[in-house]
Amino acid sequence: MNGSEASPWCALPPAIGPEELAAWCPAVVPPVAVTGATGFVGTHVVAALIEAGIRPRLLVRDPTRLAERHGAKADAVRGSLDDIGALGELVVGCGTVIHLAGLVRSASEARFDRVNRVGTENLVAALGRAAPAARLVHVSSLAAVGPSREPAGSAPEDEPHPISAYGRSKLAGEAAARGHAGPWVILRPPAVYGPRDIDVLHFFRMAARGLVPIPGGERWVSVAYVADVVRGVLAAAAGGADGRVFHLGEPEPMAMADLVRALAASGGLRVRVVEVPGAVVRVLGLGGDLLQKVGMRRIALTSDKARELLGRHWSAHTAASLAALGLSGYVPLSVGAVETWAWYRRHGWI
Ligand SMILES: NC(=O)c1ccc[n+]([C@@H]2O[C@H](COP(=O)([O-])OP(=O)(O)OC[C@H]3O[C@@H](n4cnc5c(N)ncnc54)[C@H](OP(=O)(O)O)[C@@H]3O)[C@@H](O)[C@H]2O)c1
Repeated sequence: MNGSEASPWCALPPAIGPEELAAWCPAVVPPVAVTGATGFVGTHVVAALIEAGIRPRLLVRDPTRLAERHGAKADAVRGSLDDIGALGELVVGCGTVIHLAGLVRSASEARFDRVNRVGTENLVAALGRAAPAARLVHVSSLAAVGPSREPAGSAPEDEPHPISAYGRSKLAGEAAARGHAGPWVILRPPAVYGPRDIDVLHFFRMAARGLVPIPGGERWVSVAYVADVVRGVLAAAAGGADGRVFHLGEPEPMAMADLVRALAASGGLRVRVVEVPGAVVRVLGLGGDLLQKVGMRRIALTSDKARELLGRHWSAHTAASLAALGLSGYVPLSVGAVETWAWYRRHGWI
């Protein structure tokens, strides 16, 4: 990371070497359109594209957020996933579309469905009209397949059984992406952490205070450092893996309590991990729903997220996916968390 960055949102390439960009990016067919470019993962993907010399075309709802994040190094199309005209303008003549836009927190199943399913259907319809041969890289989520019954995690070919409104809407979005006439790839990251993330940030903050509550019982989880998600997106965009679903993230799932201790240790801290009964997590989720209904936007724990947290194992088989995408390594938590602590501290987020 570059210590001279001024704004926490300014476009920095994640920990990806120039040789990796050189390996993938020449194979990415331009023009490249991106949705969700102003979000956590999107800012990193767009930074990597720009670093590789690609000028992406971005769908943005608020141009001031675009200026703050990517300056003048990208072209913007103003609009949202329910704006048919804007989607047409975004994808016309494109060789590659990276679809990252999504609703990740809401108390409303209808809102999840409208953005994650209908929004993807609208994008695929626009591709059908204006760029039917473009490669679509669709970023879904492990929530679409649901929690695993085994600690070792779920594989991409397992039967999906999402347990949250978010997961159901992401699975429906996958179905829409499969309807694209041109080549498509579906990526399912687990929980993603890294600089600029505001969700796993809660665990970093609790660790900084020395006490981290987690849901009781044996739970194994997979995580992905944001740079590895960017690697997955770029490898998929470069082609050679079309028509398949891939799981991203560290190949070795961890017990949740161990993961929290390792995360704290990466920040030079020791923590107490306290197991909380499921009923308490559910009540806190209902409280989050109420706060969201009165207008608070960035609520970490809603009842939908509580349902997810209480799912057995949020772990994934990723080794075969990483190999199929040509990804030979990954950033372990011990390294990714150190970079993330440093970034949060540098920007006063912790
Ligand atoms: N972060 C994770 O742990 C994680 C894990 C698995 C999968 N994913 C998936 O990865 C993708 C990116 O996640 P993220 O963490 O970067 O989310 P994020 O930070 O909340 O960003 C979401 C992005 O989507 C855009 N967006 C939301 N609704 C939209 C709409 N109706 N029309 C157009 N744009 C819209 C947002 O634009 P504004 O800036 O205008 O709000 C923002 O750019 C999502 O599809 C998510 O499901 C994330």
